[in-house]
Amino acid sequence: MLYSYLLPLHNILRWLVLAAALFAILRALAGWLGKKAWTRLDDSAGLWFTILLDVQVLVGLVLYFVASPLMQTALKNFGAAMQNADLRFFAVEHILVMLAGAAAAHVGRSLARKAADPAMKHRRAAMFFGAALLLILAAVPWPFSAVARPLIRF
Ligand code: HEM
Repeated sequence: MLYSYLLPLHNILRWLVLAAALFAILRALAGWLGKKAWTRLDDSAGLWFTILLDVQVLVGLVLYFVASPLMQTALKNFGAAMQNADLRFFAVEHILVMLAGAAAAHVGRSLARKAADPAMKHRRAAMFFGAALLLILAAVPWPFSAVARPLIRF
């Protein structure tokens, strides 16, 4: 069944998204603080971060509207779901904060590409990708979060 593939995929893709975010941010910071040129690798780092994040958002949306039995329960009675911390987390908090993170990543990539000089490109990439990463980290259901999920699932 779709769910048994998509849930582990969504779990594991999270690590690729986080690694791509970290790589793009570290390059942007090094470029900004070290006054370096803006290279094709800097551009690809942002591209890969946004691509992986978009795929993760897509998988998340399929889980949300189609595959997740948890979300089927939540969507059947949204009002009642708000009384349950687990259901409310996925029905409202997780999706909204992740969409905000994806928006920050896309705006950052676009503004970085449009900036006139390399320093401004690196600075915009560092700030917007950094904000995106913080939002994503805050909305992941870590094992130590109030709504806890495993670090890896197959
Ligand atoms: C709009 C975007 C997103 C939507 C709609 C979404 C939706 C969901 C849903 C419905 C679940 C719960 C599935 C279930 O237990 O039945 C879930 C779990 C999860 N999501 Fe998302 N998600 C989104 C973005 C993200 C992003 C960007 C990340 C991290 C980079 C992420 C990481 C996770 C993790 C780690 C879990 C727990 C997986 C597990 O239990 O093994 N999600 N998401």
